[in-house]
Amino acid sequence: MVKINTIDIDPPLLNSSCAWASDKAQLRELYDSPYTGAITTRTATLNGFGQDETHTVAFFESKTTSINSYGYSPHPLRSYISWVYDLLTNPTASGAWPAKPVLISITSSSSTVLQEMVVEIEELRNRLHQFHLAHSRPAVGIVNPATLIAIELNTSCPNIKDLPPPAYNFSFLVPFLDVLASAYYSDPSLTIGLKLPPYLYYTRFQDVVRRLATYSRPKPDSDGVETLNPFAFVTCTNTLGSCLLFADQTGGGADSFALPTPLGGLGGEALHPLALGNVYSFSKLFAEHQDPAIRRIAIIGVGGVTSCEARQRMTRAGASVVACATLLGQQGVKAFELLTKDE
Ligand SMILES: Cc1cc2nc3c(=O)[nH]c(=O)nc-3n(C[C@H](O)[C@H](O)[C@H](O)COP(=O)(O)O)c2cc1C
Repeated sequence: MVKINTIDIDPPLLNSSCAWASDKAQLRELYDSPYTGAITTRTATLNGFGQDETHTVAFFESKTTSINSYGYSPHPLRSYISWVYDLLTNPTASGAWPAKPVLISITSSSSTVLQEMVVEIEELRNRLHQFHLAHSRPAVGIVNPATLIAIELNTSCPNIKDLPPPAYNFSFLVPFLDVLASAYYSDPSLTIGLKLPPYLYYTRFQDVVRRLATYSRPKPDSDGVETLNPFAFVTCTNTLGSCLLFADQTGGGADSFALPTPLGGLGGEALHPLALGNVYSFSKLFAEHQDPAIRRIAIIGVGGVTSCEARQRMTRAGASVVACATLLGQQGVKAFELLTKDE
């Protein structure tokens, strides 16, 4: 089991945010799988993203590499809030009360709108808390569902026209981090993480860690020895943007591109070495940091986890939790069983 602020992920395996975690039925199936220790929703915006036929995915012939041109979910945040409330207030397929965390992936191009979205998620947590008070039966150990929610801010989608992924440019990123930090310091039981893009050189990792550390504060009543930081986890990495595959590489005709855009984000096996490098670099920088709150930041390793061996490599590189998207798209929910078969 891996504890990240209020959430426990057991087993430390989940889906990363993607098109196959988009609607209520997909989320229910992911939630009910005994092989996932948590689930992540597809990235929601406040009012839903205008998806059209240019937004799609293709798989490399090997099937373990993907390229996609999707933006965010067409479903608005309020749909995810209602589906997650439903998941966390009804027994699972096995008849047990829910104890599995849900990472709600969100994003916005405006920090003011992001703030509204965070307020909506805090309201969801309040409603879940009320539900718990009304139905709690501590003798049978029902988990307070308000503690099962985490926010994952997607800072790294490479497919949004005219909008660079904010995590590649700190002047865009900082206003969003400020919103999350202020939400956390008003309520430190809020578990917050950042979905980061693949970075390509070492000083970028150092810049990110230095920036995160500016949000640490001394923990009250600890004589300055202990510190708090709003960011409990980072998820590394999102897809690698601006990639191009030809249709004949994905089983199609020779004279066209695999995607209509034609550029898209690369995921799966081809991303694996870069994702491992990102996980390794952050894990080293976190572990060596003088600030105890930075040393506590957990890493969810994502990128080319398509086999048990790849899952183990993520852990060896420094991830405490591992996630996948391309394999889920290929195999459906049995992906998580495949990633568990060595245990
Ligand atoms: C079809 C598709 C849709 C995706 N949508 C999202 C998304 O909505 N939000 C997000 O943070 N990442 C999204 N991703 C990125 C994945 O979460 C993941 O970071 C990336 O694909 C690398 O993991 P993989 O190698 O297991 O595919 C998407 C990936 C794919 C393939």
